Amino acid sequence: MMEETQPKISSGLEGIYIQESKICKVDGINGRLYYRGYSIETLNDNSDYEEVCYLLLYGRLPKKDEFEKFKSDLRNERTVSTEVMYLARSLSKKMHPTDVLKTAVSALASEDEELADNSPEANARKAVRLISKIATLAAAIERARNGKEPVAPDPSLSHTDNFMYMLTGSKPSSGQSKLINTMFILHAEHSSNASTFTTLVAGSTLADIYSSVTAGMAALKGPLHGGADEAALKMMMNIGDPGNTEQYIEDALAGKQKIMGFGHRVYKTYDPRARILRSYLEELRNDKDPETRRLIEIAIRAEKLMIDKLGNSKGIWPNVDFFSGPLYVWAGIPPELFTSIFAASRMVGWCAHLLEYWTNNRIFRPLEFYTGELDLKYVDIDKR
Ligand code: CMC
Repeated sequence: MMEETQPKISSGLEGIYIQESKICKVDGINGRLYYRGYSIETLNDNSDYEEVCYLLLYGRLPKKDEFEKFKSDLRNERTVSTEVMYLARSLSKKMHPTDVLKTAVSALASEDEELADNSPEANARKAVRLISKIATLAAAIERARNGKEPVAPDPSLSHTDNFMYMLTGSKPSSGQSKLINTMFILHAEHSSNASTFTTLVAGSTLADIYSSVTAGMAALKGPLHGGADEAALKMMMNIGDPGNTEQYIEDALAGKQKIMGFGHRVYKTYDPRARILRSYLEELRNDKDPETRRLIEIAIRAEKLMIDKLGNSKGIWPNVDFFSGPLYVWAGIPPELFTSIFAASRMVGWCAHLLEYWTNNRIFRPLEFYTGELDLKYVDIDKR
């Protein structure tokens, strides 16, 4: 028998390119991020989440009439069927909101009459439905956890303002509105990260868009990916007093623990999304809410220590998930909802990648190098 030669194995697929793409550029050396050629700073300063969705899905900024139509399409798709809402609400006391959301998004397939139509046009319409409805579900699930009825969407509000409205029952303040728009923009897309890759793997089998993004949501949940923001805030809460920060982090590192919200496979410098969130921390450092001030102090002290110890030496810098926690707390959003907001924001990225990949689809099928035994003799169960 011919022997296979030991191949080069790329653990975690590090350094492997899976395709050419025109959606997103993550420049990990210079700490730059671009959606369809526009820097994340440019989009955050000038655009809003609805326009960023159009940009990601269609590859360019919309003209006025195109944007009005797109916004109206998004707003018309905000309601979900009674069955899916019932499912989400009834599970919400038993499961983590991220899991309820994943289950409910999967169930949205039941109400889509175009489910079986795999044309690019139908899939683009399904993407709009998913982007719109996932926000409605995320808000309703959080309310149900707290024994509250859902709030009907308000078509006069933007996607992100309406999300806050459906969550709290009140229109957001201008500060909350700006922050939530930033959060949705920063989380909208990030190239072939674990959840987008998972979405593509499922989609490459020609599974429908709902199945594919549900797979992506499962991958997003883990603390090494989208679950990191909740884990980072919980660490800050455990630290308790800002004066404990350095000792807590030193002890965690000495125990070989990872500090959630730091490090990245691609960025070996400061994540540009974290830099944008860091500037919000400076603005809110003297906020009147003592909890916000306390968490911000902990975050800033932890950032300094981590950069001193691991920044230049190991390329471990804050990522987008580190500073979100104190900011969400300031905006009145509980930690258990962070990953759902990440998923709601990222839905457009997953869909944009699926639409692009399906234009030149090929099933993903990587290899494993088998190192086990071969041709073993089968021994009867009584004789083992
Ligand atoms: N704290 C302490 N040490 C770290 C950290 C961290 N957060 N991240 C990486 N390291 C160390 C790691 O222990 C290893 O050290 P050594 O070489 O001595 O064994 C080295 O850096 C390389 O780490 P790795 O886990 O092999 O790196 P990776 O590229 O496979 O993983 C990562 C990237 C993001 C999963 C990892 O940095 C991590 O676990 N970070 C914490 C979780 C987190 O914040 N995730 C959110 C990522 S950004 C948003 C998103 O896309 O979801």
